[in-house]
Amino acid sequence: MNTEVVTINQDNIDHGAIKRAGEIIRRGGLVAFPTETVYGLGGDALNPESSQKIYSAKGRPSDNPLIVHISKLDDLYKIAEEIPEDALKLSEAYWPGPLTMIFKKKPIVPKETTGGLETVAVRMPSDKTARALIEASGGFIAAPSANISGRPSPTSAKFVCEDMCGRIDMIIDGGDSEVGLESTIVDFSEGKPVILRPGFISAEMIQSVLGVYVGTDPALKHEGDRPKAPGMKYRHYAPKGELTVIYGASDRVVEKINSLVSEDIRNGYSVGIIASSENAKKYREGTVKPVGSAGNNEETAHSLFRVLREFDDENTEKIYSEAFDEKGVGAAIMNRLLKAAGHKIIDLTKEDL
Ligand code: TXA
Ligand code: MG
Repeated sequence: MNTEVVTINQDNIDHGAIKRAGEIIRRGGLVAFPTETVYGLGGDALNPESSQKIYSAKGRPSDNPLIVHISKLDDLYKIAEEIPEDALKLSEAYWPGPLTMIFKKKPIVPKETTGGLETVAVRMPSDKTARALIEASGGFIAAPSANISGRPSPTSAKFVCEDMCGRIDMIIDGGDSEVGLESTIVDFSEGKPVILRPGFISAEMIQSVLGVYVGTDPALKHEGDRPKAPGMKYRHYAPKGELTVIYGASDRVVEKINSLVSEDIRNGYSVGIIASSENAKKYREGTVKPVGSAGNNEETAHSLFRVLREFDDENTEKIYSEAFDEKGVGAAIMNRLLKAAGHKIIDLTKEDL
């Protein structure tokens, strides 16, 4: 299949191109498109065949449900039931934006889209190109991240093409994704809200709107437990190289990484380091990739998946990453980083001084 790549500037949208992309989706085809979080691989959410095509293009197990993207609140009521007041409060505060909410589904949503579940995940993105495409496609786009299953989510059209060119009808290039990590997922299907996947909209931001404590699915912290979001059980975001995360006081982390890297290099490995901008200069060997200044977690979130993909492209065999502060979006960064590392960590705070 020939994949057409079309560039669209969200400040000056080419409506002719959007109309064509919308027609592809209405006819049952697939279009990858930019959102503020990561690129999505879109098909008609109400067409079971489109959802099956999405699973096969991604090489994704079909029990892992897709998020339905909408462009206006009225459309939520067409696909979801029992929408609690608290969910409406969050929609008012954070939609359009990087927040997904899960509700009981209406029969119009096919089981193929929800991975066989009776619930549906819904998100209203803020990216203007995404919103125009949703409207042009009939209102409901099912879209997982536009990567081959198991690779880091793509934050640019170039990364989408690496995984999807030849497999889908069209890619819309809208530049680099602003947030860089997937949306926060909040489950409302059992009454009380629970965070199933941390993201840019942090637990603190959710709690400040709802005025109550909101917990995170405990299975995310316990390896072996089954998380409520089926996708969270997979070792996502896995780079080809072996990734280890090092916790501890900044100077000790630098010292430890320097000694691990020099040993690996002596043994003939190619080695990469994921570092804060402040520490980047302190590493003596290996390929250092700064992801953002310490304490600026937004910057780190924006760069993390790009850096993981670059290490893949460079065939890096061993990667060491500093651990990042878990405040705000930091919880999402550490969730993705630890999954990418298969939970391989060195904790210097637990070693004797
Ligand atoms: O930011 C995002 O959310 C991006 C962009 C494209 O919108 N999309 C995305 O989709 O990350 P995906 O498919 O890569 O991740 C969706 C996650 C998976 O872990 C899936 O298991 C979970 O959401 N999920 C979807 N529907 C669910 C449901 N009904 N119940 C529980 N988990 C669900
Ligand atoms: Mg994904």
